[in-house]
Amino acid sequence: LKVLKTNAELQSWRADQNPLALVPTMGALHAGHLALIDRAKADQCSVLVTIYVNPTQFNRAEDLSAYPQDREGDLALLRASAADAVWLPQSEDLYPDGVLSQEFDLDGLDLRLEGALRPGHFQGVATVVDRLFDWSRADRAYFGLKDFQQVAVVKKLAALRGGIPEIVACPTQRNADGLALSSR
Ligand code: PAF
Repeated sequence: LKVLKTNAELQSWRADQNPLALVPTMGALHAGHLALIDRAKADQCSVLVTIYVNPTQFNRAEDLSAYPQDREGDLALLRASAADAVWLPQSEDLYPDGVLSQEFDLDGLDLRLEGALRPGHFQGVATVVDRLFDWSRADRAYFGLKDFQQVAVVKKLAALRGGIPEIVACPTQRNADGLALSSR
């Protein structure tokens, strides 16, 4: 597992990885994330995982500060996984002009259901995912269907970008009781 900390390291590693699959995460990894990695590997891609807890998608500061973080545990899981590299961007890399959301035309997909209860949440997701797509220049990106509305938003974002990367939506992973696995 290559651990990439700077954009320069990312760019130099990325040059030789084709096709490249991106698995964006906020860390606190579990079997749901590992299933995305396995699927990307099965699709014959080089697999880049990102770990970044994105401030612009949190509605409340206390939710952001309470978000679980376990960097060493995550790296141990990734070392034992099929991932080829992990990128650990800093806020300065993704938000050089300040930690603010952009406004994308998401056809109202961001405003209904969960979006109605969490104003700005999906614009924050779209903002960070757009930048992860820009920096990684991934050919494909893998997302779990547990976050069904997020998948719809990310598909719309990819369409706004001309259809690249291709978005691959993967089945929800559940525990023995049927509960969807989640970092929280
Ligand atoms: O699903 C998540 O973990 C996050 O919303 C994502 C896609 C990594 C963006 O921060």
